[in-house]
Amino acid sequence: AKIHNHDFVIQATPVKRLCNTRSTITVNGQFPGPTLEVNNGDTLVVKVVNKAQYNVTIHWHGVRQMRTAWADGPEFITQCPIRPGGSYTYRFTIQGQEGTLWWHAHSSWLRATVYGALVIHPKEGTSYPFPKPKRETPILLGEWWDANPIDVIRQATRTGAAPNVSDAYTINGQPGDLYKCSSQDTTIVHVDSGETNLLRVINAGLNQQLFFKVANHKFTVVGADASYVKPFTTSVIMLGPGQTTDVLITANQPPARYYMAVRAYASAQGAPFDNTTTTAILEYKAAPCPAKGVKINPILPPLPAFNDTATATTFTSSFRSARKVDVPTEIDENLFFTVGLGLNNCPAGASSSSCQGPNGTRFTASMNNVSFVLPSNFSLLQAHHQGIPGVFSTDFPAVPPVKFDYTGNVSRSLWQPISSTKLYKLKYGARVQIVLQGTSIFTAENHPIHLHGYDFYILAEGFGNFNPQTDTAKFNLVDPPLRNTASVPVNGWSVIRFVADNPGVWIMHCHLDVHITWGLAMAFLVQNGVTQLEALEEPPVDLPVC
Ligand code: C2O
Repeated sequence: AKIHNHDFVIQATPVKRLCNTRSTITVNGQFPGPTLEVNNGDTLVVKVVNKAQYNVTIHWHGVRQMRTAWADGPEFITQCPIRPGGSYTYRFTIQGQEGTLWWHAHSSWLRATVYGALVIHPKEGTSYPFPKPKRETPILLGEWWDANPIDVIRQATRTGAAPNVSDAYTINGQPGDLYKCSSQDTTIVHVDSGETNLLRVINAGLNQQLFFKVANHKFTVVGADASYVKPFTTSVIMLGPGQTTDVLITANQPPARYYMAVRAYASAQGAPFDNTTTTAILEYKAAPCPAKGVKINPILPPLPAFNDTATATTFTSSFRSARKVDVPTEIDENLFFTVGLGLNNCPAGASSSSCQGPNGTRFTASMNNVSFVLPSNFSLLQAHHQGIPGVFSTDFPAVPPVKFDYTGNVSRSLWQPISSTKLYKLKYGARVQIVLQGTSIFTAENHPIHLHGYDFYILAEGFGNFNPQTDTAKFNLVDPPLRNTASVPVNGWSVIRFVADNPGVWIMHCHLDVHITWGLAMAFLVQNGVTQLEALEEPPVDLPVC
């Protein structure tokens, strides 16, 4: 196994998109940031130097961080932010994961531009469970704002209203030639006729689930969230923010130029989104050159409608683990968490300019009626490790305090979340099941729920209210997919299981960033086991303090 050393300098860099240039926070001046390539079993040592004017942290999305929670990265959860002028070195080992993960800032909305791919090749001396592709290409889907994304979310937090939607979706940082001022820089992926390319598709977007398709070509899905899956073919994939999907694509069509295209999957009724199609180009090297002055447009694939939940859910429920699974058959912790949005009444005495949500309210979001609040003086992991009182409580409810028809038309008077920093304590080794139940208090939406520090098995998903009498019969205990981010279907539920074998404090949240801002998060406190190999390591000496 190798050790890979990298330097990440966080800095403001002028970036031009959509006819304008704006100062953009980047890593090493690159947008998207550098792709890191390792083998399963290797160690990464990344020194992050903050030369920007904002606090920053970097999260290694999906990396299990066994006993190294100090390197996980979410601000105020596992570390205090790296202040302007400061630095911190993340050190961790990839253990057992192969495929595609990614890294991103985990501080305010900086991840809009601070992100990149983390490619994990098979352990040295081993190979893929599918024929080795001729090429491999990371495909990072993202979102671009003309304004500074930090200002966009600060403004929304002030007013209580929904933040402005992005001005474009992007593929490898580019909106593509259907957007104004963008045709020069469209991403082009070259292929030779007959060859197979492994596309490592990552949804790095902030707030939008995305469909992805290539004209006239089919995908063979072989992995997701750095776990191999039983191969299946599809012409379209859907990713929620945070998710990755590895697909093989064979150049078996007449040599030409084909669009790779991205469009929103907007499950929320009435939520604004950008319906422009984002494009990149798959270009066969033998594609005929157009005669001088003639423009031949690439072939554009038909994309699903923005509200095509059937296509989205058929896709997300097609995954099956390719490797032997160790899904717990017995459970010690049977949890039921609601996930959804809501509206808070304007607090008495608040100015009307701070309550510009629907009908003078403020948007909110919660799990089991608790809207998660980040601490500001300590990280939760530090408070836990040093026994600092008063930073959090451990009374996060195991089940919702009020039961009702979660997916019907429910009155919001049933559900006025409390704001608090509540953790749920798990014994080392506990076998945990969580029913994630979507609600429709204010609006129903598909929520990509991400758990740090763990991969979990998705046993089943469905629509309506989860029914413990009948829905348990649908559980797949044979070959359920292992993921770090579950798409909880709109007006529906997902059931996940994992073994709490990684001590630390681990946030679980909706990966639509605006929903975390509104409180759609909670955190687990996983206790140490008995032996040293079952305990959290000591913090690095350069761990930032608040
Ligand atoms: Cu990809 Cu908490 O994040």
